Amino acid sequence: MLGVLVSGNGSNLQALLDAGLPVRAVASNRKDAYALVRARAAGVPAATFDLACHADREERDLVMATWLEEHGVELVVLAGYMHLLTDPFLRRFPDRILNVHPSLLPAFPGAHAIADALEAGVETTGVTVHRIDSGLDTGPVIAQEAVPVEPRATLEERIHAVEHRLLPKVVRELCPAVR
Ligand code: GRF
Repeated sequence: MLGVLVSGNGSNLQALLDAGLPVRAVASNRKDAYALVRARAAGVPAATFDLACHADREERDLVMATWLEEHGVELVVLAGYMHLLTDPFLRRFPDRILNVHPSLLPAFPGAHAIADALEAGVETTGVTVHRIDSGLDTGPVIAQEAVPVEPRATLEERIHAVEHRLLPKVVRELCPAVR
């Protein structure tokens, strides 16, 4: 059973839903995330865990982890989730949190990976699916796929297309029961 954490558009959440994967709960740190609309349209329980409503990030993460567990979540997927997770969350799902990132990590970590790759003038960038630890886009790599930078005008679109294929594939391999 999957829980998906989101902050924005949610196209990767949509790819998981369209692949028929068992998404049981969607949590956001932003109440205006379009991903929440996608979750509700698919009939998946969705909730916002706003930092402003909690004493600190640790408390928010603990409440969010408890909500996910209550919905039967065993594997957590970060799909465009823009906050670092704190120890109280990481301890609840040890080795069971994945992230999708739009570069070939360890190159270009952070929130602007596609722009950073363009700026650096590399010929090839790509997509990484990796396990999460307490760092920024660190943690063991599970799968990567390269994407040529040229033609630059379509790089973002081509990276997202790879994400939408690679993330459901990796998740399916990690959930043999739903294959
Ligand atoms: C994706 O590019 C993902 O790799 C990155 O944030 C973006 C989220 O897009 N972590 P979406 O919300 O899934 O459309």
